[in-house]
Amino acid sequence: MNYDIADPSLAEAGALRIEWANNRMPVLATIRERFEKETPLAGLRVAACLHVTTETANLMTTLRAGGAEVMLCASNPLSTQDDVAAALVADGIPVFAIRAEDNDTYYSHLRSVLDADPQITMDDGADLVTMLLKDRPEQRPIGSTEETTTGVIRLRAMEADGVIRFPVVAVNDSATKHLFDNRHGTGQSALDGIIRSTNLLLAGKTVVIVGFGDCGAGVAARADGLGAKGVVVEVDAVRALSAAMEGYTVATADDAARIGDVFVTLTGNLRVLRGSHFEMMKDGAILANAGHFDVELDLGYLQDNAVSKRRIRHELDEWTMKDGRRIHVVAEGRLVNLGAAEGHPAEVMDMSFANQALAAEWLATDGANLGNKVYRLPETMDQEVAAIALEALGGGLEHLTDEQIDYLASWEQGT
Ligand code: NAI
Repeated sequence: MNYDIADPSLAEAGALRIEWANNRMPVLATIRERFEKETPLAGLRVAACLHVTTETANLMTTLRAGGAEVMLCASNPLSTQDDVAAALVADGIPVFAIRAEDNDTYYSHLRSVLDADPQITMDDGADLVTMLLKDRPEQRPIGSTEETTTGVIRLRAMEADGVIRFPVVAVNDSATKHLFDNRHGTGQSALDGIIRSTNLLLAGKTVVIVGFGDCGAGVAARADGLGAKGVVVEVDAVRALSAAMEGYTVATADDAARIGDVFVTLTGNLRVLRGSHFEMMKDGAILANAGHFDVELDLGYLQDNAVSKRRIRHELDEWTMKDGRRIHVVAEGRLVNLGAAEGHPAEVMDMSFANQALAAEWLATDGANLGNKVYRLPETMDQEVAAIALEALGGGLEHLTDEQIDYLASWEQGT
């Protein structure tokens, strides 16, 4: 078996952490049990380009239970947990991922999984499918799946340009993915990354959230819960208004730059905080990015204009500017929750990866009947995933009576 990981001796520690996560992933466990009986992925090669975390490991074993031959590479150079990679390899799953690998190695690992000519590919950010579409015209998988907002945006651009040559499932667009993973997962884990790298007390601090989408709203709510003063920067008037009505100060990036103690970018956009903002920030400002790519903070400006840089704590760099002010950047501007913490908690990844497993099954059974387009998963799957997750949380689900079903379907009854 081919693989490329940092240290096989970490396998035992990784296996324990995978088991811990698995205990908090009841939806995936239910699907795994069914997959074992029905083997809907029998004989299929599935190549996944996902963050190599304990939760991803449990997705890999679920796909294997469904009969697939699985292989895994990282979807970000800084998000691999080397002990998890080692445990998966010890369990017979090829992994090509090393934490803090350089860009060349990152892309060579993507090529390694594509060399297996997979029939299904899975992405978190669309790097694998982009490489496949651009460089491998001879490969024609049944289909592909996508985990995150930024990947779906890239795929819709490919769809508009007519370059997609198989169906792609936008797992991110399932309600049980983005309403929970992006909001509750990023909300907690982005702050977890900032706190682990800085040990900062957030109470009383001004936390600037740039981008008030599902992720931004989650971080804002959790920072608020910890006693921070939330300032939101948005370009979408409706979302900005919604932030204002939730009680946050809404400000331009210039105004926010002057007052923030901590800045978190979650826009999926380029250079949303840049030189002009860095020059206005207070001494000691802390910057973190939770958007998919490391393009949201203009680190090139710091590289060109700071007089010095030193690593002051784990995953925390201190840049000193010409006027002596210090700007701190967490996890090199890469996804802070994965770079400086362990990514989302298992409970939310359970639902996200349940959707991934169901998407793979959907492609295996119906892929041939789908067009070369970006699809959402059928809504019934959202209901299925949510119902199992709710049951695991101990919640009871009310059911409509027959009379209520008739009433909702009728138009004749009025006042
Ligand atoms: P979204 O599209 O719902 O929200 C992004 C928001 O940023 C939008 O409201 C948009 O108007 C705003 N925005 C865009 N440019 C801006 C600018 N220059 N200044 C201020 N606001 C701006 O996206 P979502 O789902 O919240 O995801 C955000 C990013 O986080 C994406 O890159 C996504 O892939 C990534 N993501 C990261 C996760 C993690 O684990 N860290 C988990 C899930 C998503």
